[in-house]
Amino acid sequence: MTVGSKQAPRVLITGGAGFLGSHLVKSLLSGGNEVIVLDNGSTKNLEDVKSNPKLEIIQASVTDPFPSHILASRIYHLACHASPKQFGLRPLEILETCYTGTKNALEAARKWNARILLASTSEVYGNPEVCPQPETYNGNVNCFGPRACYDEGKRVVEALAFAYRKQYSVDLRIARIFNVYGPGMPASDGRVVCSFVDAAIHSRDLVITGDGAASRCFQYVSDCVEGLRLLMESSWSKGPVNIGSETETTMAKLAGIVVQRLAAQKLGRSSRIVYKDAVEDDPQRRRPDWGLARRVLGWEPRVSLETGIDRTVAWFLAAEDACR
Ligand SMILES: NC(=O)c1ccc[n+]([C@@H]2O[C@H](COP(=O)([O-])OP(=O)(O)OC[C@H]3O[C@@H](n4cnc5c(N)ncnc54)[C@H](O)[C@@H]3O)[C@@H](O)[C@H]2O)c1
Repeated sequence: MTVGSKQAPRVLITGGAGFLGSHLVKSLLSGGNEVIVLDNGSTKNLEDVKSNPKLEIIQASVTDPFPSHILASRIYHLACHASPKQFGLRPLEILETCYTGTKNALEAARKWNARILLASTSEVYGNPEVCPQPETYNGNVNCFGPRACYDEGKRVVEALAFAYRKQYSVDLRIARIFNVYGPGMPASDGRVVCSFVDAAIHSRDLVITGDGAASRCFQYVSDCVEGLRLLMESSWSKGPVNIGSETETTMAKLAGIVVQRLAAQKLGRSSRIVYKDAVEDDPQRRRPDWGLARRVLGWEPRVSLETGIDRTVAWFLAAEDACR
């Protein structure tokens, strides 16, 4: 990895205790950066680095004004619940986090003269009518449905970013992140790779909603972290960049791979793949056009789905052992 800056800037990561944020925190700490995490959730994912003197954890919401002592020169703004289960439980909080939280983050970037990277998402494309999706595609999103708080919330994030750049020339990077998976993602939060792995480890059925033909492009978390760091340090500030794998996998194929990888370890043998009704507004296909990321960042994902699943399984098993 060659993206660390020589000066190792002081970095603020909002949402740094979450799945993706905690991997980013560890990557930046190992690159010698001072890291401040601003997160109002559990800090369990940071347990192994909590004693690092270069890490400060502030437990607060991004919807409150940021503490002024932070004064970072880089801000990764990741705070926002990304689990589909949360979309139904706290839609207003998610919208508030997207609007007020992002406004606070952009305000901090403006005042501190810091560069800010916003974690947007492939969800801004909604249920896309074009495939693969280039950054120039404006999306097909339902603003009145169960996923609207997140999908439209993230569109507001991008609109705010555009406004701050236009009015205040804020130094901006926007990552449209496509499905990330890996160690540290809770089995219970409804994201498909970890739900399948957890089910298979416990010999439960793997439940596919819909007919199994819906597809996603999964990227392993270390690839995504590398993409985010490269984007942050790149000179590309014109607009959003897709960060995602181009390899499309159907839900049926994913379930099959998980069962097969577990079987190789003599696990999950009695799991079956079963089908339930499709979920409302769940997009059928998602696939990034990654030409821009390749061109301006020289980035592409490196970890195959099979290897990533093996690593995720190993993490799940180790976490269970530690709880015994
Ligand atoms: N993981 C993915 O596949 C994926 C894909 C696209 C985009 N993203 C984006 O990346 C970011 C991180 O995703 P993740 O998978 O780590 O999500 P996550 O849900 O695991 O973590 C989000 C973190 O944000 C914190 N948070 C939420 N609201 C907050 C608030 N108001 N104030 C402070 N902290 C708050 C949570 O406590 C949590 O620690 C999110 O913005 C998400 O939209 C993730």
